Amino acid sequence: MPRTAMIPLRAQPKGMCKIADGDLGPMRMEMPAVKKICNMFGYPVFMRSDQASAKHDWKDTCYLENEQQLGSHITNIMDFNIMNDLFPQAIVIRDYIPMDTLFTAFDKGMPINPEFRFFVRDHNVVGYGWYWCERAIYEGTRSGLPRYWKHKLKKARESIGRVEINKLIRYAQLIANRVDGYWSVDFCRGKDKVWYMIDMAIGKASWMPEDYKEIDNRRIKNEPGNRK
Ligand SMILES: Nc1ncnc2c1ncn2[C@@H]1O[C@H](COP(=O)(O)OP(=O)(O)OP(=O)(O)O)[C@@H](O)[C@H]1O
Ligand SMILES: [Mg+2]
Repeated sequence: MPRTAMIPLRAQPKGMCKIADGDLGPMRMEMPAVKKICNMFGYPVFMRSDQASAKHDWKDTCYLENEQQLGSHITNIMDFNIMNDLFPQAIVIRDYIPMDTLFTAFDKGMPINPEFRFFVRDHNVVGYGWYWCERAIYEGTRSGLPRYWKHKLKKARESIGRVEINKLIRYAQLIANRVDGYWSVDFCRGKDKVWYMIDMAIGKASWMPEDYKEIDNRRIKNEPGNRK
């Protein structure tokens, strides 16, 4: 997974609303740490709250190219969080990983990358699906999509065969071994063809992919190396 730093926020809901309105005052104590970590990781960085990234507004939110963008991106991320009734408790900075991008969508340069969402429950991998749904991309993009985008998406999905899926099931099992309860676990493929675990969320609050498949991975779980 990408190197990650979490900077806890002290602001209360009222302060959060001010931040979302562009007043970084309620975050003044945290700003030096945020700046320091971004410099340490090196720009660009991937930035989000502990709740959400506002990824559809990519170049104005989670994709941060330099320190000058910090204030406006934090404001936009907070605005998205508050508008969705989420009250973040931390700013999260991650190493930006160049992904195996197929094309961009959602008008703000958001990369569509090969991605799978797995679900783990009570130390077992219970299912997975291809993250992207054509309709969401089509309906969420006003400025036009590249020619043959559906073909690119389909080709990428179909090129990921059994061997690669089994590898992801094993990765998900390693995570399942370490967490209690029900979680979604997202994997994204990098430009270097390595699969990165990029995000986890509470299972019952996670969107379920259209082609979600239940699996019984007791065999994989019992392979040497995967046992607890
Ligand atoms: N470290 C990273 N480097 C580069 N791209 C990333 C990184 N982490 C995530 N991404 C890209 O950004 C997108 C959004 O990331 P993330 O899953 O953290 O946000 P989110 O708001 O929780 O979205 P979701 O609701 O889909 O889980 C991912 O689909 C992936 O394409
Ligand atoms: Mg997420």
